[in-house]
Amino acid sequence: MKSIVILISGRGSNMQAIVNACAAEHWPARVAAVISNRPQAAGLAFAAAHGIATAVVDHEAFATREGFDDALANAIDAHAPDLVVLAGFMRILGPRFVTRYEGRMLNIHPSLVPAFPGLRTHERALEAGCKVHGATVHFVTTSLDHGPIVAQAVVPVLPGDTAETLAARVLEREHVLYPRAVHWFIVGELHTAAGIVTHTRGSPQQLL
Ligand code: GRF
Repeated sequence: MKSIVILISGRGSNMQAIVNACAAEHWPARVAAVISNRPQAAGLAFAAAHGIATAVVDHEAFATREGFDDALANAIDAHAPDLVVLAGFMRILGPRFVTRYEGRMLNIHPSLVPAFPGLRTHERALEAGCKVHGATVHFVTTSLDHGPIVAQAVVPVLPGDTAETLAARVLEREHVLYPRAVHWFIVGELHTAAGIVTHTRGSPQQLL
């Protein structure tokens, strides 16, 4: 049985999708803990209601980024995870932290990486006149919102879209994409060579 720790900062809808898929599809894994850097993160209540251990490591309580990162690593390592999942986790993590979990930490970013790292991705896709947009699950490296790409979901940009309508269309796909990618990792079906991630059985790594 593999152990997963999920980090959130807010609503946690991707975390919920992963928790639900893990139970419904009987993954050989359990979500051992959900950890937030914000005490008021709405997702904590969902996790607690599902019998999952929760913890808060409040970044505001630390004078330095390294101090926060170390406390977060301690909270994570208490659950000896095989995989750390960033799901709407809104803190930049330092190089020492990222290196510690290299190859076993995933993130989802709401753009077709390498386009639009950082914030306001939906606004920026509209401003750029993109005709398609989407989300990316990638291994976390020291490059912000970038790293070996595990899977991507593509959505159309439609006439009349606002950042809100586009975000909602992307989020719906995230909830399919992220559980699929996490499951692949858990069952050992991902292979990374020279920064390129492939699926061992050749499953399509894009949702169209
Ligand atoms: C998602 O759009 C995700 O791609 C981004 O932050 C958002 C988190 O939403 N990293 P939620 O907390 O999972 O509902």
